[in-house]
Amino acid sequence: MSRELARGSGETPPGAHAAGAPASGGAAHSQHPDAAWRALLERASAPYRAAGRFAWHFARGKLGRDPVFRGMLQRGDLSGRKRVLDIGCGQGLLASLLQACADAAAQGRWPAGWPEAPRAAQYTGIELMARDVARAQAATAALALAPRFVCADMRQAELPDCDLVVILDVLHYVDHAAQAALLARVRTALGARGRLLLRVGDMDDARGFAASQWVDRLVTTVRGHRVPPTWGRSVAQWRELLQHLGFAVQALPMSRGTPFANVLLLADATASHGDAA
Ligand SMILES: C[S@@+](CC[C@H](N)C(=O)[O-])C[C@H]1O[C@@H](n2cnc3c(N)ncnc32)[C@H](O)[C@@H]1O
Repeated sequence: MSRELARGSGETPPGAHAAGAPASGGAAHSQHPDAAWRALLERASAPYRAAGRFAWHFARGKLGRDPVFRGMLQRGDLSGRKRVLDIGCGQGLLASLLQACADAAAQGRWPAGWPEAPRAAQYTGIELMARDVARAQAATAALALAPRFVCADMRQAELPDCDLVVILDVLHYVDHAAQAALLARVRTALGARGRLLLRVGDMDDARGFAASQWVDRLVTTVRGHRVPPTWGRSVAQWRELLQHLGFAVQALPMSRGTPFANVLLLADATASHGDAA
């Protein structure tokens, strides 16, 4: 059964702006995108000091080295989506990044050349590991976004209605039947115009997939968790499953600068799936 552990206090730190507030507090800035990204990275990592040295170093390393986070902002993958569900959220980095984006936009520090800044108004993170949930809560409790973290197994956790579901590097931890069952529930939670961002390893790229698995095991061990078995699919198989569930799918390679076989699947709900309009 789901165990709701934590909810942010909603307290707004000095200078912070409510997530979801209009970005009209400042015009888009001509700041160079690299500088803008570095500032976002610093701002999104800073709250993790409250969760200890490991949490802070992990946040900076992950946000700084994993191309998916900056990529999602530059392409506008998160733009215009108010209710965000992050499944397998780890220590909740996406919540902190969303807050940093809202703050930057409100203060006129959003790069003019990027799509509209994300303006999440609600964030729910589901995570199996209590230690990660504790770190997420310690870091993000004061954010205006007031992220909610649920310590639960995604296979049983209740999924709230949402506009955007993000699942990064998580589904391979459960077997194929459980993957399909969860994605069907995600499709229902998203409704007619929702979007799923799903990052997976492409099993057709044997060498890259093996590299991802190796690093995954290492990071799992360093974070103090037991290394579980994993279940992969090729990108073609992921695409077929998602299309069958009522998504239109684009596949974006997400391994530039890394030895991995990661692919980000942008899956938009198709109206033909029988949702209410
Ligand atoms: C590789 S980490 C990715 C974390 C986060 N999505 C990110 O990109 O920073 C995978 C996460 O999925 C979580 N996880 C694995 N199996 C899970 C399950 N059955 N239910 C919920 N979370 C799970 C792990 O505990 C871990 O935090």
